[in-house]
Amino acid sequence: MQDCFKRDIDYLRVSLTSNCNLRCQYCMPEQGIKQNEKILSQKDLIHLVELISSTGIKKIRLTGGEPLLYPNIEVLIRRFKAIKGIEKIVLTTNGILLADKIRSLKEAGINGINLSLDCLDKNLFRKITRGGNIDKVLSGIKAAKEKDIPLKINSVIMQGVNTQEIIPLIEFANDNKIDLRFIELMPMNVAKNFKAVKEDDLKAIISKKYGALKPIDVFEGPAHYYQVENLVINIGFISALSHKFCANCNRLRLTSTGILKPCLHYNSGVNLKKLLNDNISDEEILMIIKDTIYHKPKNHHLEDKTFCQKEDKSMSLIGG
Ligand code: GTP
Ligand code: 5AD
Ligand code: SF4
Repeated sequence: MQDCFKRDIDYLRVSLTSNCNLRCQYCMPEQGIKQNEKILSQKDLIHLVELISSTGIKKIRLTGGEPLLYPNIEVLIRRFKAIKGIEKIVLTTNGILLADKIRSLKEAGINGINLSLDCLDKNLFRKITRGGNIDKVLSGIKAAKEKDIPLKINSVIMQGVNTQEIIPLIEFANDNKIDLRFIELMPMNVAKNFKAVKEDDLKAIISKKYGALKPIDVFEGPAHYYQVENLVINIGFISALSHKFCANCNRLRLTSTGILKPCLHYNSGVNLKKLLNDNISDEEILMIIKDTIYHKPKNHHLEDKTFCQKEDKSMSLIGG
């Protein structure tokens, strides 16, 4: 359905867990993050996703935390794929468990995977993720490629941390024919300890080495893409601050604890788990969901220091 600004809201991000098997420095504190609220039961999760999807959702992205930690994620993929109107079920993962899970994900019918990879240097990877083993991620990528699952790589570049990895990441993605997106770090929670490298600076580095960037018309939410003269892959950018994309936003979020969030950067949302627990009828819950979609905020206020409804929780609690 459309919101009050005539945006088609047809994409649902479902966070399955706030747990993660990594501790990326810009996402979580070293000791991790304790989730105090109980997560949705699998039955309630499926029921809520069915209700939300009936408003006209076409694509569902499973996120986390790390969604591959969710037991029997394949069951969810099959159930969500069977929902009327759903065209694609996709996943965003850190890739650590991917090689182990790829066969069952493929059999369940996963339509695409976005992989987070901020560097290729083994030691730097261990440092950024506080202990992660990059070899596992690389075998996951290889396994996914062998199964012909469409892949994209997401890289967050931070000043003084991994700028030296920009070219190696592009070379790796280009050699493996995987599109690469640079994500501008969003200043939330512990990410405020780091400084983003802005899109225009990345473009200058890329064009200097690989030639001109030509924009491609893809209207799929936050990312915008470029063809690069001397690369076979496309390079994308998700730049919430320097190239605000709220006018094209097509998405809703359901957190693992059952909160329906109309915008990543607002701390508000509707507690759908509570509505189920209070035995509110499906008809009433659907009305509340539609009202939430209709009143989706027009844009974020990340740049406004005084905005009081700003979301400041870790990405892992919201689902990225
Ligand atoms: P596709 O376009 O379906 O490939 O997915 P995506 O890029 O939306 O999903 P992914 O999970 O790979 O997210 C990549 C980055 O985009 C993450 O850092 C997300 O936090 C960010 N992102 C996704 N959706 C939004 C959004 O609505 N607003 C903002 N500000 N960032 C978003
Ligand atoms: N800003 C931008 N991207 C972030 N991610 C996690 N925290 C942030 C942040 N503060 C990214 C991860 C992963 C995706 C799901 O979200 O790197 O690629
Ligand atoms: Fe885990 Fe992703 Fe956060 Fe890294 S960014 S700690 S992989 S949820």
